[in-house]
Amino acid sequence: MTPAGMGLGATIVCLLAWAGLAAGDRVYIHPFHLLFYSKTSCEQLEKADVETPKEPTFTPVPIQAKTSPVDEAALNDQLVLAAEKLGDEDRLRAAKVGMLVDVLGLRMYRTLSETWSDPSGAVLSPVALFGTLASFYLGASDSTATQLQAFLGVPGEDQGCTSRLDGHKVLSALQTIQSLLVAQGRPGSQAPLLLSTVLGLFTAPGLRLRQPFMQSLAPFTPIILARSLDLATDPDLAAEKINRFMQAVTGWKMHRPLTGVSADSTLLFNAYVHFQGKMKGFSLLPGTREFRVDNSTSVSVPMLSGTGTFPHGSDAENNFSMTRVPLGGSACLLLIQPHCASDLDRVEALVFQHDFRSRMKNLSPRAIRLTMPQLRLRGSYNLQDLLTQAKLPTLLGAEANLGKISDASVTVGQVLNSVLFELKADDREQPVESAPQPAGPEVLEVTLNSPFLFAVYEREASTLHFLGRVVSPLHKA
Ligand SMILES: *[C@@H]1O[C@H](CO)[C@@H](O)[C@H](O)[C@H]1NC(C)=O
Ligand SMILES: *[C@@H]1O[C@H](CO)[C@@H](O)[C@H](O)[C@H]1NC(C)=O
Repeated sequence: MTPAGMGLGATIVCLLAWAGLAAGDRVYIHPFHLLFYSKTSCEQLEKADVETPKEPTFTPVPIQAKTSPVDEAALNDQLVLAAEKLGDEDRLRAAKVGMLVDVLGLRMYRTLSETWSDPSGAVLSPVALFGTLASFYLGASDSTATQLQAFLGVPGEDQGCTSRLDGHKVLSALQTIQSLLVAQGRPGSQAPLLLSTVLGLFTAPGLRLRQPFMQSLAPFTPIILARSLDLATDPDLAAEKINRFMQAVTGWKMHRPLTGVSADSTLLFNAYVHFQGKMKGFSLLPGTREFRVDNSTSVSVPMLSGTGTFPHGSDAENNFSMTRVPLGGSACLLLIQPHCASDLDRVEALVFQHDFRSRMKNLSPRAIRLTMPQLRLRGSYNLQDLLTQAKLPTLLGAEANLGKISDASVTVGQVLNSVLFELKADDREQPVESAPQPAGPEVLEVTLNSPFLFAVYEREASTLHFLGRVVSPLHKA
């Protein structure tokens, strides 16, 4: 845990003790207390259950309906603005959810790594993964909700209302987490980091969705596109239509999912994430450089280079090194390089574990010239596959209780997370040709010209935002 994280932990204990004394109530010293339903909300929920008001529903418009393109800059501005309004409790909740995001993200990364489908590389978004499952939690009841809560990392102790996750608090913490990544503390300046998330809910024609469910997803992302189309007649064509629709609306060239949708599904839930980081003080090297994919293959790729004092460490026993590069604000990029190119799988299995955070602490500042490929990575995975691998194939299956999503019974098909991840030089900077080059024996050359791992990490909420591996940085445009 970072020192900031420990401070937050201590504050929570104090807050809770104080609240307990003031209310003369049972004191819950539980780390997730802040994410549970309060007593008052529980009473309201009980009342609502008795009165059962009919919730408004709507039918999504057909996929061919005109849709204006996503305004990424506006989306990002909203996140930056949200960061300016954060209170202490928002930050505490974000730190708690950040912890859960990390645990689930690392676990799912390991699950995914058992079946890498793309040999050139991969990228996973723990936040999108967590947000997707938290969205389903908001739509779930009974045992489905209980199982989802446990999968998110918070098994409800006594099943009582006040030990149930409040999905609204969780998604609002996720918004805080996203805004902390892009907030740079200098309003008005062009943000070096861009993060956009778009949800696509695709339904069979005629399926009505509950309005309150849709509204509750807003903190995850304000851009939620619900569209209907024929999923049954030609599943491959349906998948193609969805791809074309998302491409037209976002402009992002995402991975195409490998398979069509399954013919009996009535709801597909897809999250699309675009991240773009501009590395301050780094410039694009002229021409291309060689990147050794393995001991018989090399590719020529554009590379970035920058010099600075970066936390760095080398694990001589396990044969890898780690370098941390600031990305502005409290965000940073971790680069993990196996000393031997063919060692990527071993190092990946070793490093992306639950003790990942403590590994990051064993770094000390060094003057470094870092050279690495410019990156554009795409990752795509179906959460249904991950749940199956995690031995929970029915969690979002035919028997799932998702009555808060729709009054009709819902058959969830693909639950896709697609990520487009880009890292480039900061083109707002002047070329650094005339800058003094602090070359010399004391400057360590770190050159990522063979397979490596990376993580994007935000320190205030201690959240892993992206995890990935680069085997061959060449990409088809
Ligand atoms: C690290 O490299 C050394 C020398 O190449 C080798 O002897 C050792 O077995 C390696 N360690 C691991 C954990 O692979
Ligand atoms: C190339 O790498 C493979 C493992 O990836 C190894 O088995 C093989 O011995 C290597 N060849 C040479 C010439 O180093």
